[in-house]
Amino acid sequence: MSVAHIAEPSPLPFDRNSGLSVENGSLSVTKPCGERIILHPLWLRERLPDARVMDTLTGQRLIEAADLPLNLAITSISHDHIVRFSDGFETHLSANWIDNLLSPAPITERVLWDGAQTLPTAYNFTEIATHHTHNALHNPPLRAFLDQMHTHGFAIVRGVPTDKDGALEFATMIGPIRRTNWGGLADVKAIANAYDLTMTPRHLEPHSDNPYREPVPGYILLHCLINDAEGGDSTLVDGYRAAQHLREKDAEAFETLTTTVVQFRYRDATALLENKAPLISLDEKENIIQVRYSNRTELIDRLPPEHLNRYYRARQMLWHLIRPQSSLTLRFKLSPGDLLMMDNYRLYHGRSGYTLSTGSRHMRQCYMDRDTVASKRDILHRIHS
Ligand SMILES: [Fe+2]
Repeated sequence: MSVAHIAEPSPLPFDRNSGLSVENGSLSVTKPCGERIILHPLWLRERLPDARVMDTLTGQRLIEAADLPLNLAITSISHDHIVRFSDGFETHLSANWIDNLLSPAPITERVLWDGAQTLPTAYNFTEIATHHTHNALHNPPLRAFLDQMHTHGFAIVRGVPTDKDGALEFATMIGPIRRTNWGGLADVKAIANAYDLTMTPRHLEPHSDNPYREPVPGYILLHCLINDAEGGDSTLVDGYRAAQHLREKDAEAFETLTTTVVQFRYRDATALLENKAPLISLDEKENIIQVRYSNRTELIDRLPPEHLNRYYRARQMLWHLIRPQSSLTLRFKLSPGDLLMMDNYRLYHGRSGYTLSTGSRHMRQCYMDRDTVASKRDILHRIHS
């Protein structure tokens, strides 16, 4: 969480001299545009840039906010921005601190794409690694890679060492990987007696990975070691684009998929993993924030027939949008040394089948949590700004 007490120079959203006043025990801030913002006294008090309230080193709160009197009020704000509270506490509010407090965080827009999307520029492993060795906090190519992850939901880096653990050389520059019951970095190749269809030469329909886990793995890092068999193309679909399309074309289907909770289950000799969620998740502002699709592991409860009718129709609508024949499908073939990183909350990924008699296909894969990736991106931007 960013800490508000670190002041940074920027244009003021309010009149330094006359934009602040007390109104019914709250602080009123008037911007030059005339917009008036009311700051609740408790909201202001519990984040004050004062060493008695927030630790100056960690930015973490020192006081027990829940113990503050509920009837706390602001009694005055002086011309030089000394704010006083009804319990006698007073402190100075710098103009820049208030400015930062009211400035919304910059938003990097996501770019929705379809199958006509040109494959974005691949990044160079050696260049990223060289920067990392020099200064792990200053790495423009890794920052650009993570920016592309954010805007497009995937990015490719080339030249990753094709030894068994080569993916870790890249992954650890971002952060720790997520270990699962399958281990850390795991093989994706055809084996005898496969415990998962991934481990066969069969095609894989578009899906999101492991919706039966809690939390669902945030990102997938897929590292290509060998890919010389006939077939084995990678497929990607922008799930946000598909969901948005459904929302615009069939509101009832969209509503059904955002409100019907389905079960995902994985079971083998040593693990039983289950989680429940809708195929499309929205945040409190109804933005699409996560998609799930896992034909192999989805099992819906025995809901009333009318509800199941709605669900099956909506799911089929979604499938028609994301299936390999769909115009939303992006198709390409990874080469040895390529590492494809995917947002597992946004993309559906799959592959075409391949013919073992014509060659081999050996990938290695691991997961990374969302906070790990978001943190690295934030740090790289913070150092640059
Ligand atoms: Fe997968």
